[in-house]
Amino acid sequence: PSILVINGPNLNLLGTREPAVYGTATLDDVVRLASDAARERGCTTTAMQSNHEGEIIDAIHAARTTADGIVINAGAYTHTSIAIRDALAGVGLPVVEVHISNVHRREEFRHHSFLSGVADAVIVGAGVDGYRLAVDHLATRLTAAAD
Ligand code: DQA
Repeated sequence: PSILVINGPNLNLLGTREPAVYGTATLDDVVRLASDAARERGCTTTAMQSNHEGEIIDAIHAARTTADGIVINAGAYTHTSIAIRDALAGVGLPVVEVHISNVHRREEFRHHSFLSGVADAVIVGAGVDGYRLAVDHLATRLTAAAD
């Protein structure tokens, strides 16, 4: 099975961006961590990062024919984007939503996610380890589905 890992706006700055909140791992580290976790479970990953809402939506649409599941950290679009929610609902693939920080411990405006209602699982506050947990969980779902 193949897993698309989507990182949204500002996550290209991981490693230098607010390290007290997001840690010091870079986006490359996150992508590697996700692909290592997938390989251990007999899955593959493709990763994309974009600061543009429409590009994220296009990537979700493309996943219909190229992926079996999606791990998404939509960054701040989590809290604003009905369009990304609709794209995820529209393609109907299993989705795990990830947030590096514990959004519930932060500002009120980060407490609501438009995506959680269409996600199969949500992992928040586990740091970048959340990506490994997300991939591992999707692999469990996808390999069970393949039996
Ligand atoms: C984030 C949390 C969001 O509120 C924020 O806008 C981000 C990163 C996280 O991974 O903790 O960009 O999704």
